[in-house]
Amino acid sequence: MVRNDDPDFWRRARRHLVRYGGTFAPVIIERAEGSFVYDADGRKILDFTSGQMSAILGHGHHEIAAVVAHHVGRLDHLFSGMLSRPVVDLATELARLAPGGLERTLLLTTGAEANEAALRMAKLATGGWEVVSFAQSWHGMTAGAASATYSAGRKGYGPAPTGSFAIPAPNAYRPAFEKDGALDWRTELDYAFALIDRQSTGNLAAFLAEPILSSGGIIELPPGYLAALKRKCSERGMLLILDEAQTGIGRTGLMFACERDGVVPDILTLSKTLGAGLPLAAVMTTPEIEDLCHDRGFLFYTTHVSDPLPAAVGLKVLEIVQRDGLVARAEEVGARLAARLRGLQQRFACIGDVRGSGLLQGVELVADRATKVPAPELGDAVTRRCLELGLSMNIVQLPGMGGVFRIAPPLTATDDEIDLGVSILERALETCL
Ligand SMILES: Cc1ncc(COP(=O)(O)O)c(C=O)c1O
Repeated sequence: MVRNDDPDFWRRARRHLVRYGGTFAPVIIERAEGSFVYDADGRKILDFTSGQMSAILGHGHHEIAAVVAHHVGRLDHLFSGMLSRPVVDLATELARLAPGGLERTLLLTTGAEANEAALRMAKLATGGWEVVSFAQSWHGMTAGAASATYSAGRKGYGPAPTGSFAIPAPNAYRPAFEKDGALDWRTELDYAFALIDRQSTGNLAAFLAEPILSSGGIIELPPGYLAALKRKCSERGMLLILDEAQTGIGRTGLMFACERDGVVPDILTLSKTLGAGLPLAAVMTTPEIEDLCHDRGFLFYTTHVSDPLPAAVGLKVLEIVQRDGLVARAEEVGARLAARLRGLQQRFACIGDVRGSGLLQGVELVADRATKVPAPELGDAVTRRCLELGLSMNIVQLPGMGGVFRIAPPLTATDDEIDLGVSILERALETCL
């Protein structure tokens, strides 16, 4: 039997693949089903990251498989200027579900692409071109999205466009501004925008933000922050773009994370979770902004814009999420996950913080709880050990922070699967300390 250590597989991988982001996991995945992936050694590995934070229905959902099979044979891809029913149906359903007046949708393929389109819209609508985002952000790898991404990947690729600015994300565990021993995000935000005003040439177009900064280490914007941020944007004639790639479609226990604060962005981008692991993204905005952009000649013409097959998948994803009560389930099972993780925190001093919402939880590892000194080697060792024990975990290591596990199981995960994951993490911590 050919196993994970298949020398021919790894020789050809080394020889023929571009290494696009660090090292590959030392397993060959043969199959994925439900909350698990299966490797070439026949091992069942619990997927605590929904693939790349996307497969909210688990892997290989039979209804999604049926939609794909049907549309591949019947209505797959079209000339980009043609419309089909799945596209208009998905746009209609998204308009029904989305908060406020976000009634117009552009259907694309990836998260970076959606943010790219959103930034182009904001520039055209405002006439500005300066873009602000968080210093711990991740918005994608295409030029505009990467220019607004500060958590990784800035060195070595030349200058970002003039007018790319960053402000600190409000980190309650490691506050930069404090009042009475707690994060003082209002002062931090005022100070940050005072600096933006100093640097701006008067051409601010947009603020691009994640409601929970995921690649930035699961930093959730505190209640009230989004409303304050929206005010800062309005005062300057900038648009607020919310990137709900990971938080959208139920993961935080709400259909959209921004509903918690009742704040409606000017533009909302969706991706990863909308296709539940298949490539589908959306940009949503108001009729006013869309009309203005159209009048000014808005162009975002891509090969896969308005493709019927992924649109049909998105429609089915929304149907299943609503029919099966998965938004409420994310809240319920997320509470169970958070409680179990806090239990581990009581036991292991290296768990500095547990934070997040619903099924997007973060666990920050530190060498010492009092000093909060990061423990990067420990994080890597625990991640490796989890995989050996049958649990796929994702850790982000950022400067000035401990390694943060980003835990985002499928919304379909059972209580037993959640408990299994936490108990494997517990065993991994026991053996690594
Ligand atoms: C919040 C957020 N936005 C955008 C992206 C980029 O999406 P994609 O990789 O599909 O281009 C990511 C990817 O991790 C993300 O986490």
